[in-house]
Amino acid sequence: MPKQKNHSALDNLSADNGELIFGGKRLSQLSQRAELQPFYAYDRSKITARIKHIRHHLPKDILLHYAVKANPMPAVVQHLSGLVDGFDVASSGELRIALDTTMASQDISFAGPGKTENELRTAVASQIVINIESPTELETVLKLAEETGEQPRVALRINPDFELKTSGMKMSGGPKQFGVDAEQAPRLLQRMDETDVEFMGLHIFCGSQNLRVESIYEAQKKTIDLAFQLSQATSCPLKTLNIGGGFGIPYFLGDAALDLATVGENLEELMIGARQRLQGATIVIELGRYITGEAGIYVCRVVDRKTSRGQVYLVTDGGLNHHLAASGNFGQIIRKNYPVLIGNRVGQLPTETVNIVGPLCTPLDLIANKMDFPRAEIGDYVVILQSGAYGFSASPTGFLGHPPPFEMLV
Ligand SMILES: Cc1ncc(COP(=O)(O)O)c(C=O)c1O
Repeated sequence: MPKQKNHSALDNLSADNGELIFGGKRLSQLSQRAELQPFYAYDRSKITARIKHIRHHLPKDILLHYAVKANPMPAVVQHLSGLVDGFDVASSGELRIALDTTMASQDISFAGPGKTENELRTAVASQIVINIESPTELETVLKLAEETGEQPRVALRINPDFELKTSGMKMSGGPKQFGVDAEQAPRLLQRMDETDVEFMGLHIFCGSQNLRVESIYEAQKKTIDLAFQLSQATSCPLKTLNIGGGFGIPYFLGDAALDLATVGENLEELMIGARQRLQGATIVIELGRYITGEAGIYVCRVVDRKTSRGQVYLVTDGGLNHHLAASGNFGQIIRKNYPVLIGNRVGQLPTETVNIVGPLCTPLDLIANKMDFPRAEIGDYVVILQSGAYGFSASPTGFLGHPPPFEMLV
């Protein structure tokens, strides 16, 4: 009999007669509520509890922003609008969702390379904060301001010369498409000085999915030092400094949860210097995955069970088109399994080693590679945990709220 090696996310599941209970409901109840199968479900009480946990550990004068890209489901974003201090959006699709909530527009910021003129026009008209990521973007915003008579709110997104070490995704240091290199920043800050934009401050986001306290501390320290240095290049005081985030969650066997208490203590120490040197600037931390990642599941069903040359395959009605990250095709160098379970056999011992695959005609469509489960039958639920962030939103259908391409036959 295969030995069960448990992912920590599988430790505290509740079940009724073997059936997973999620958000107070049995899996079959959730499945009946869903108009389409497969489905994602998010637990609002888990999201609320997570915000409380973050606020408890972070310095009290730090503002907490939610990166909508992690999970832009409108109901989730609406729920969070009463719990966080601001939103960061990455596309006009996400911006529309954020603007429809009760969040004040000056507390919504827009970051991401390649913002189109249309997106920038909406952003200027909505009076949100635009994180400028290139000289072209600044000039487009200035042109739109002239055309519309609006005063744009802008911040400068910096690509520093350091990185957030040991991150699942590094987004700074070296040449990058994100932000403006720190060396180019003084020129752009001066250009902003010459105009009548409302200068909000700086945005420095170094990376995502980090579980190491020391790496986060080092990046935050360097970020505050860099912000102080750059603040000398502008005559406008920084109203805000967005120091990014990058707090990770345990996805894979052996991952330990981030020690948020120590992250908070370290940040409290850094804040002493930051308050003195960046007088009056509000420090913002911007988190996505850490807020919603552990509060969501993806559920699909076994539609076939077959054996190929000695290996058992459970074929499901869901896969990488809905959940790219779990298939291992979103930034993993060596594919590892997400925590997966058979949702109607919780508590049963594993009896076989199987591969769980989706229905797409590609070997990349893999949900579980040689994982141990109790014997599953056609109709059983396959549940992927840790799916509340970058699940649906980072899958080929509508990645981060960007529109689909147009097709034509000529
Ligand atoms: C600018 C920006 N802000 C916030 C985030 C959210 O990161 P995470 O979900 O890891 O907290 C990202 C992730 O790519 C980002 O690029």
